[in-house]
Amino acid sequence: MTDVVQSFSEFFANLGLPTVLIFVLVMLVSLWMLSSMNSRVNWPPGPVCFPVVGCLPQLMISGRRRQPTDLLPWYDTYGDIMHIQLGEQHMIMLGSYELIEEAFVRNAATVSDRPTWIYPIRRLVGKDGAGVILKNGHAWKELRRFTLSSLRDFGLGRKSLQEKIQDEARYLVQNIEDENGKAFSPRDRVAKAVSNIISFVVFGVRYDYEDTPEMLSVLEESVRMNKGGPLAFTNLARLLFPKKKFVLVDKFYSLIRQEVERHRQSFDPTDIRDFIDLYIKVTQERLDPEIYTEWNVFRIIVDLYSAGTDTTANTLRWSLVHIVNHPDVQKRVQKEIDQVIGQGRVAKMEDKARMPFTEATILEVFRMSTVVPMGGPHATSEATTLAGYTIPKGTIILGDLYRVLHDKKNFEDPYNFKPERWLDGDGKVIKSDKMIPFSIGPRICLGKGLAEMESFIFLTSLLQNFTFKVPKGENQPSGVEGVNTITFTPHDYNVCAVRR
Ligand code: HEM
Repeated sequence: MTDVVQSFSEFFANLGLPTVLIFVLVMLVSLWMLSSMNSRVNWPPGPVCFPVVGCLPQLMISGRRRQPTDLLPWYDTYGDIMHIQLGEQHMIMLGSYELIEEAFVRNAATVSDRPTWIYPIRRLVGKDGAGVILKNGHAWKELRRFTLSSLRDFGLGRKSLQEKIQDEARYLVQNIEDENGKAFSPRDRVAKAVSNIISFVVFGVRYDYEDTPEMLSVLEESVRMNKGGPLAFTNLARLLFPKKKFVLVDKFYSLIRQEVERHRQSFDPTDIRDFIDLYIKVTQERLDPEIYTEWNVFRIIVDLYSAGTDTTANTLRWSLVHIVNHPDVQKRVQKEIDQVIGQGRVAKMEDKARMPFTEATILEVFRMSTVVPMGGPHATSEATTLAGYTIPKGTIILGDLYRVLHDKKNFEDPYNFKPERWLDGDGKVIKSDKMIPFSIGPRICLGKGLAEMESFIFLTSLLQNFTFKVPKGENQPSGVEGVNTITFTPHDYNVCAVRR
């Protein structure tokens, strides 16, 4: 026996350290591959996963351009339902409307959770989740219902949301007029206009365009830091996530707390002015102490502000990109505005039914520039069968909204901006169930109605007053490529707004 051990040691000593290390590595990989082959889970096809890191290396290579188009070729290789392992976390990507509908609508009972255990979410809200976006189960349903009904109440309050958006559209027009036709970047002022709407709902205030509310700049900086991509879904995020991100989140929380304190000083339970007043009321009344906790209601405030600003601002930024790139579309929208609204008043939602080309243009912006390309991450709360595969509890499920909206099976010539695709032979707007920029199922965007109202009133007011052009000597902005974090933003660009 000792002879055998001795000859083994001599054998390895002669091989040298690098060879031994390679040998050990190959052994480990083979063992791991054998064990994963034996695994009882029959995952859908997907790229090869390595020990510890999963498919992160391939994701880093394929996704390095940070465009929502980066992973589209993978669907050609693996199919519309794809398994990806990110470190220790399993994830399924769904690349067709039918699969997303199967998961988010027909299997909503088990595919509507958020993965609150993954590091960035756990670090933000705790493992039990909080608010609307990051809460699960019965409490999520109740808090979502509460948020929707309060949004409706504020919309029907003393000054309706529609009127507020109309007022803000006037401010925005005035602000752009001050440029006197010179080249400017629409980026920040569009964000300020949109954030003023949500500020009105939540804090009861609007800010002048000269002042940048600290909350907005903190939010924007924090969104820009969401560059971890797939790493964010793994425990490796703990090591690699920029610490600054959480400093910004804490700053954001402290700014909201200041607003709460400001509100407390003039709080009157019989006169609820905005969501912060509602927060004070609900937490004082202790409606259902398990659900309406301070933390849950506080997080709803964060959710509304964060989900309601960058998304709609990006939709307007992309709208102007497509408008300057398609002067013919701009002219047709302006013609419709002149016929239906004229120059004497601001657009209202009732006008939309009589403005099919304008509606088609906005639909085309929502489709072509999918501002939340991957939707929000869902997770299975129980084992669930999808496309015949049994997906275990605790798997992240992503619906690739961008892919559905750019699949030529659903939309012919998908990378060209063509509002006409939304009109039938009689010039009426066509409805398509494949049009899912706000996702589908019980997790569907809670602010869809508000976002649609803002997009219509803001864009119509801008084109009623100005003709937008690419400044002389500058390149046309890209209508396809942009900056993709959780939301999809166009690259910075300038326009000239010529008074009509
Ligand atoms: C063009 C603008 C917008 C787009 C494209 C958009 C899109 C989305 C998408 C794709 C989701 C994820 C749905 C899912 O997980 O399946 C979502 C969730 C959500 N959005 Fe929006 N959104 C927009 C504007 C807004 C606005 C203005 C608000 C605020 C009032 C808002 C509030 C929310 C909330 C609270 C959720 C989480 C819903 C839940 O988890 O139950 N969104 N949105």
